[in-house]
Amino acid sequence: MNHTSYHVPVLKEELIQIAKTHIQEKKDIFIVDGTLGDAGHSIALLNTFPYAQVLALDHDSEMIHRASKRLQIENFSVIHSQISEQESTQANHPPYSHREKQGTKLPISLWNHSFHRLPEILSGKHQKADLILLDLGVSLYHLKEAGRGFSYQDECLDMRFHKGCQMKASDWINHSSAKELASIFSTWGEEPYSYRIAKKIIENRPFDSARELATLIMRNVPPVKQSSRNRKYSGRRQRKIHPATRIFQALRIAVNDELRILDQAMRELPSILSYGGILAVISFHSLEDRIVKHRFREIGLPVGKVSKRIKKESDSKDFVILTNRPIRPQEEETNQNPASRSACLRVLMKKMPSQGIPSSPSRKYLL
Ligand SMILES: C[S@@+](CC[C@H](N)C(=O)[O-])C[C@H]1O[C@@H](n2cnc3c(N)ncnc32)[C@H](O)[C@@H]1O
Repeated sequence: MNHTSYHVPVLKEELIQIAKTHIQEKKDIFIVDGTLGDAGHSIALLNTFPYAQVLALDHDSEMIHRASKRLQIENFSVIHSQISEQESTQANHPPYSHREKQGTKLPISLWNHSFHRLPEILSGKHQKADLILLDLGVSLYHLKEAGRGFSYQDECLDMRFHKGCQMKASDWINHSSAKELASIFSTWGEEPYSYRIAKKIIENRPFDSARELATLIMRNVPPVKQSSRNRKYSGRRQRKIHPATRIFQALRIAVNDELRILDQAMRELPSILSYGGILAVISFHSLEDRIVKHRFREIGLPVGKVSKRIKKESDSKDFVILTNRPIRPQEEETNQNPASRSACLRVLMKKMPSQGIPSSPSRKYLL
């Protein structure tokens, strides 16, 4: 594997800066990378906190394999772990019970599971996470090499992150009714031409290749303008995106049940944060970001200037939203890595037991 083909981690500097600000002073730092990918973020975090204990997950076994190889090439030791199904929810091979002396580098424990199963992995252990990172979506490997139809290549229309998903994208496309397809496209792709595309698919199916599907869509709908969220980050120019972008997004969400998993994770992951621990989520489209934003607002209070009403509520909430506005990549990053263009980082922190919300933003809380 060529070194340059690794996924480029987005908003890496911003994430490291936040981690340094908030967890630097902690002892025995415990970091969870819920979306390991090519381990770019994990490596950056380990370079910043060399003695941290890192537990990393990826739903895709190929990603675990790639990351494991890369980590070893870069002189990190790894342990492959898994939830033991026989022992129901008990995790086997729990590296965190072998905590070694401070000053000793610990192996990174790799888990081929979805991040929404983290509470299960940590169940029965008295360990809380100081940092949980979710960097949602697909990696460069999925788009360029996996051969599973994530991009518009002549590849089978699969789109599963892991084989446990019952239906491939081609199953949805070839067996759903026009009404079902239109609903998938409009709900999970926010596609304005959803019914027109669904009808064309029904007339022309079966489809087995991602390229065939993308070509049909391209022939039947005009190019779609970039959403306002993205436009903001590509300067004043209006970027046109491939007409199949929204349909492919919708199919990937449907195949991998992505939004339900994210919603469940947003409900459960805050409870496994340590006091002062942070949950950082990088999303790439508005449907993901909406789930993160709403959940953070439900359980957290915004940092900084707050109204009297919010001040009153502060005792009843256990979390602080560190990013009143999401953090976006700088122009330099989007120029170097156009895939980062739509990235959006939100961060939630678990308050110390007696901590209110700071009345004005301070360096401690903001970037
Ligand atoms: C954008 S990539 C992460 C890239 C990584 N941060 C890096 O620096 O290389 C997203 C990764 O999340 C994985 N993924 C997607 N859904 C997941 C889930 N529910 N649980 C665990 N991993 C998931 C994908 O397989 C993919 O490898």
